[in-house]
Amino acid sequence: MKLPVAELHVHLEGTLEPEMIMALAKKNSIELPYASIEELRAQYQFTNLQSFLDLFYANMAVLRTAQDFREITVAYLQRAHDSGVRHVELFFDPQAHIGGALDLREVIAGIRAGLADGLERWELSSKLIACFWRHAPASEAMELMKVLVEQKHDIDGIGLDSSEVGFPPELFTEVFDYARAHGLHVVAHAGEEGPAEYIWQALDLLKVQRVDHGIRSLDDPQLVQRLVDEQMPLTVCPLSNIRLRAVDTMAEHPLPQMLAKGLKVSVHSDDPAYFGGYMDANFDALMEQFSFSSEQLATLAKNSFESSFLDEQSKQALV
Ligand code: ADE
Ligand code: ZN
Repeated sequence: MKLPVAELHVHLEGTLEPEMIMALAKKNSIELPYASIEELRAQYQFTNLQSFLDLFYANMAVLRTAQDFREITVAYLQRAHDSGVRHVELFFDPQAHIGGALDLREVIAGIRAGLADGLERWELSSKLIACFWRHAPASEAMELMKVLVEQKHDIDGIGLDSSEVGFPPELFTEVFDYARAHGLHVVAHAGEEGPAEYIWQALDLLKVQRVDHGIRSLDDPQLVQRLVDEQMPLTVCPLSNIRLRAVDTMAEHPLPQMLAKGLKVSVHSDDPAYFGGYMDANFDALMEQFSFSSEQLATLAKNSFESSFLDEQSKQALV
């Protein structure tokens, strides 16, 4: 189902389709432990977030040049456009790409060139958000944060992703203070597998403007009340939650409940090449299970634009 929406929770590296991984590995002379696309695809069986991240980080090592980043960005934007997306706020993981021959400036220049192509070809507007790995030391994130700010790298915001349980948001308080002080937007994954307490920390300590996932908020009625009162955006990723077993089945997915409680939820694809599809596939799966009314669909679409970092005028033009 194709609904005009804003995509606010998609990881660029999670749009690398198996065919692209194999082609990039060949082009960049990188040996992968899979002989064929089918063998690679056979790995896409996940038991939890970590089992996915292990494969995800190994595969993204095929990205080696600024042109690689430009091309995968354009390929994703084409797919997003085809699925109804009108505006994208794209995540990437800088820590995965630096340390080798490529420097951060080139990675960002490649992605930015791809985003500019998307604007020209499909009038698809975009923002770029650098996510820090919560499994890595906060000191590393802080160092990188300073480089991003001092070199005036072209990013619109920062996020926090990777393994959740055992890595509470509070570890990154200083990094987020620094980012906010330098005018960057701030978001964080919280309450995907981790407890509601991590969402409280993301709000109170990191002072985020959106919570990525946030499904575990339902465990804590006081937190739900706060999120409703503040109309805090939650970027929910249904197919991701099922494939990573954060939720057992689509029938048990909390999205309808979240909508009914007045939470500001919207639908997103997270890592579409790994989880069974893009924005359209997420809506197809939701409609098959819940048959949302046109009013519910309109709310989800409106929430996605309102939760974006577009200026008011641009939001109004898209809503
Ligand atoms: N990085 C890419 N996808 C992620 C997810 N679903 N949770 C945490 N980190 C991620
Ligand atoms: Zn994510």
